[in-house]
Amino acid sequence: MNIHSRSPVRSASGTGRRYSSVAIILHWATALLVISMIPMGWWMVRAIDKPGTQQVAYQLFQVHKSIGFAILALTLLRIVWRLTHPVPALPAGMKGWERLLARITHVAFYGLLLAIPLTGWVYVSAGWAIGTDRPLMVATSWFGLFAIPHLPGLEGMRSLAFGAMGAHAYMAYGGALLIGLHVAAALKHHFLDRDGVLAQMLPFLRGTNHDDHHAPAGMALLPRSAGIAFVMLIGVVGCWLHLPDPRADIPIAAENAAPAAVSVSVSPVASASAEEASATAWTIDKAASSIHFGGTHAGKTFDGHFDEWNGDIRFDPANLAGSKAVITVATISAKTGDATQEGSLKNGEWFNSARFPEARFETSSFKSLGGDRYEADATLTIKNKTIPLILPFTYKPQGDTAAVEGNVELDRAALDLGMFSDPAAEWVSKIIKVRIAVTARKR
Ligand code: HEM
Repeated sequence: MNIHSRSPVRSASGTGRRYSSVAIILHWATALLVISMIPMGWWMVRAIDKPGTQQVAYQLFQVHKSIGFAILALTLLRIVWRLTHPVPALPAGMKGWERLLARITHVAFYGLLLAIPLTGWVYVSAGWAIGTDRPLMVATSWFGLFAIPHLPGLEGMRSLAFGAMGAHAYMAYGGALLIGLHVAAALKHHFLDRDGVLAQMLPFLRGTNHDDHHAPAGMALLPRSAGIAFVMLIGVVGCWLHLPDPRADIPIAAENAAPAAVSVSVSPVASASAEEASATAWTIDKAASSIHFGGTHAGKTFDGHFDEWNGDIRFDPANLAGSKAVITVATISAKTGDATQEGSLKNGEWFNSARFPEARFETSSFKSLGGDRYEADATLTIKNKTIPLILPFTYKPQGDTAAVEGNVELDRAALDLGMFSDPAAEWVSKIIKVRIAVTARKR
């Protein structure tokens, strides 16, 4: 169907003088959102590197992506509406070139409203930050409500990320110019030509029923091609100007590369066994136990925990040699209360949950520090990195139950966590504090 042919003017409301209410709402909602996005995008890419504004800019990135997806959805809806509902005609008094320009502008707007969000989506799916020229996979959640998946197969594509963001920026600023022209033309129609064109898109002014009916046959092809060519031209120029210097891509080691075909949406059931130890066996009261982790992200502290974990604990202060604890954690169950952080944590350079579903803590020996204080010599394995760990903890027995509490600081660099995007800990603190609180009953 031809979206630019003009049928005899009958809008959905039947007046023929103005766009239908749905078209008016979609137009102004999109306009307001797009107008907010351009200064927001401009500001956030400059503010993200400055310590004073980094935190706000980080939040704005998420808002920007969410509004961008809302614009994409509204545009798709709008195109469907436009294809299925007639629109008011252009005034008969308009010159040929004015009509052509108006039609080209309208096609270009639809093209930009699709291409700008899509190039943004490609950029975030490639997971490569052009500012730092390093991999950076940040999850997208729509206003924190639900996750929006990345486009598949693009992860780690450096040149694509640069090109997509070049096109994104050029098309956004090109779109800003077009909005300026569009507004100027609407004001000219309203104040100089007084032909009621602006009123057709305003709910509170009376539109004019123009007598100009159809665009001549064949006209539609020209504005359509010219509008699409305009969008493609800005996109290609932006993409080409932003292509990075060719250099060897930073190789992604196996432990940081997520397997393409594995779904990470299902938590594995963690298993743990310390069967060989002879000391008293304990059953963990999961409701009264927790594993927390915390640090700072973009200048703000976060406190996370794991929802799914399991432990086999054999412990007796009188039989430390026969004591052992193995705890396994489903890394995909990490929760921080921030959907973007949670989505990012399961990615390749963090936990890489698809490839390495479990983290494992295993003690090798225990030592008494006096009173209720003990120390466990242990190893911690996350992905395929194993580090030695000393966990100091308190053990407080009461009848058949006991409460154990331990705190340890982990260096995420040693565990190769987030070392692609943030090796200098500019975003996420290098030290992650882990707090284990276990209440258990003798088996
Ligand atoms: C019509 C919708 C959109 C408009 C008008 C828009 C506009 C902009 C603008 C003007 C910039 C700044 C470019 C610069 O100065 O370098 C920008 C950056 C950005 N946009 Fe959008 N955007 C839209 C949709 C989206 C969507 C849907 C996404 C992602 C799903 C997105 C992701 C980004 C990101 C990540 C950046 C920052 C790139 C960086 O430097 O790291 N945008 N956008």
